[in-house]
Amino acid sequence: MTVLASALDPAGADHTAHREAMLAKLAELEGEHAKALAGGGEKYVQRHRKRGKLLVRERIEMLLDPDTPFLELSPLAGWGSDYPVGASIVTGIGVISGVECLISANDPTVRGGASNPWTLKKALRAHEIARANRLPLVSLVESGGADLPSQKEIFIPGGAMFRDLTRLSASGIPTIAVVFGNSTAGGAYIPGMSDHVIMVKERSKVFLGGPPLVKMATGEESDDESLGGAEMHARTSGLADYFATDEPDALRQARRVVARLNWRKAQSDPGPAEPPKYDTEELLGIVPSDLKVPFDPREVIARIVDGSDFDEFKPLYGHSLATGWAALHGYPVGVLANAQGVLFSEESQKAAQFIQLANQRDIPLLFLHNTTGYMVGRDYEQGGIIKHGAMMINAVSNSRVPHLSVLIGASYGAGHYGMCGRAYDPRFLFAWPSAKSAVMGPQQLAGVMSIVARQSAAAKGQPYDEEADAALRAMVEQQIESESLPLFLSGRLYDDGVIDPRDTRTVLGLCLSALHTAPVEGARGGFGVFRM
Ligand code: COA
Repeated sequence: MTVLASALDPAGADHTAHREAMLAKLAELEGEHAKALAGGGEKYVQRHRKRGKLLVRERIEMLLDPDTPFLELSPLAGWGSDYPVGASIVTGIGVISGVECLISANDPTVRGGASNPWTLKKALRAHEIARANRLPLVSLVESGGADLPSQKEIFIPGGAMFRDLTRLSASGIPTIAVVFGNSTAGGAYIPGMSDHVIMVKERSKVFLGGPPLVKMATGEESDDESLGGAEMHARTSGLADYFATDEPDALRQARRVVARLNWRKAQSDPGPAEPPKYDTEELLGIVPSDLKVPFDPREVIARIVDGSDFDEFKPLYGHSLATGWAALHGYPVGVLANAQGVLFSEESQKAAQFIQLANQRDIPLLFLHNTTGYMVGRDYEQGGIIKHGAMMINAVSNSRVPHLSVLIGASYGAGHYGMCGRAYDPRFLFAWPSAKSAVMGPQQLAGVMSIVARQSAAAKGQPYDEEADAALRAMVEQQIESESLPLFLSGRLYDDGVIDPRDTRTVLGLCLSALHTAPVEGARGGFGVFRM
């Protein structure tokens, strides 16, 4: 029997306490998501409607096949910054005319849809997802271009927006631009670099320079329509391939363009799968709010994989990392899940072997993070923890099967790297509200800084101010704690979103389906030198 047994007691005091803490965090998360949904706020939403325009999410809804899901990505982009939560753009994966596509849509109610540094990061991340997974890219354009006061942050790196479009096209991935309004100056290159362009009558404005700029530059008198209207671009310049009479017509035409792409997935949907044997609701009560308290990640695996069926690999070896084979919505996955927090030499070597096996078999990998990092101390250093950790990092870096990462608890230090943190290019990375990620725990970091300061004072022969030290430690601890939290990290685009634990299976299923648009081919060799 490979169906996981559960020791969870959903009626127990621990479960109830963990669940309540998680629900409180989810309520906070919902409040932050609501800010993104509200766009530019009531005043700008009303003004937009009065102009007879659809809101960004209404456009997306009309574009997608009825009753199909939209996996919105990075909704908290910009959180904790000077810019509005959501970063004036909506990105995500949805199904158009039966084809999974990446949608990138400006929210014109937020500062005219202008791009600030977080908008740019979010848009470029969306392009990266389209590229890695071979998803057609549909841009719904209506933007004031660069957010002018922050131009220094975005003008130079922002060139990547247009570069990406043509590189996607060069690699055979279709790009479609639907222009609902302003798309001027640099923004004109979004339709300019896309394979297919749809413009809306009397709404699209696509020009390198508007009438005032033209007047200044050449003295010529002009107007929006003759410089960059849909009619002009459809009949005269040829930049518009399709002329839409209004917004719904533009979205209908976009659906027709996608229907005619002849786009086929590398691997089709495996069909219905058996749900887990345990209630997904119980996922709320597994992770303790004090991440120092260990929990068994098999309780999580049992509630997200098909039939709770898990063939554990090397179950008797390296017990603080669970590795094994499962299926999720019918797609095979290899799972690596931290069990006791710390990664030792055995766990590192086991992970390296497991990752190689997944590559030999072309099986995507799922990393469930709850690690405080690699073990430190004399015995472990002498036992070769650096070279063993390096083996795991080598394996994860050079692995070519798709990786999915979910931060469910701690994700500290090089453990974050070995478990395929953001810099290791997982195809998708999500966090639970219970997650925390930083170079180390806040107390440890504050303690290290205090020891260093104490040594420095001693070296200079100066007395050490204990009172100032205590105050500094408390301050540093608080700062690191706040910088470790999912809202903060998601705001900086270090994940693709913070998700409700109960949605994990659905979210991962949507990701697995999308990523099978591209062929799944593991590395057969091509790893760096494994230090033995
Ligand atoms: N940078 C920073 N803020 C911008 C902006 C930009 N590029 N474009 C618009 N905004 C701000 C406006 O200042 C305004 O702020 P406020 O409400 O606090 O006064 C808010 O966004 C809404 O703009 P508004 O002009 O009222 O909206 P609109 O829907 O009538 O017009 C645009 C939208 C985009 C057509 C118009 O704002 C515009 O032409 N912007 C400048 C476009 C440009 O030249 N960009 C440079 C390209 S590189």
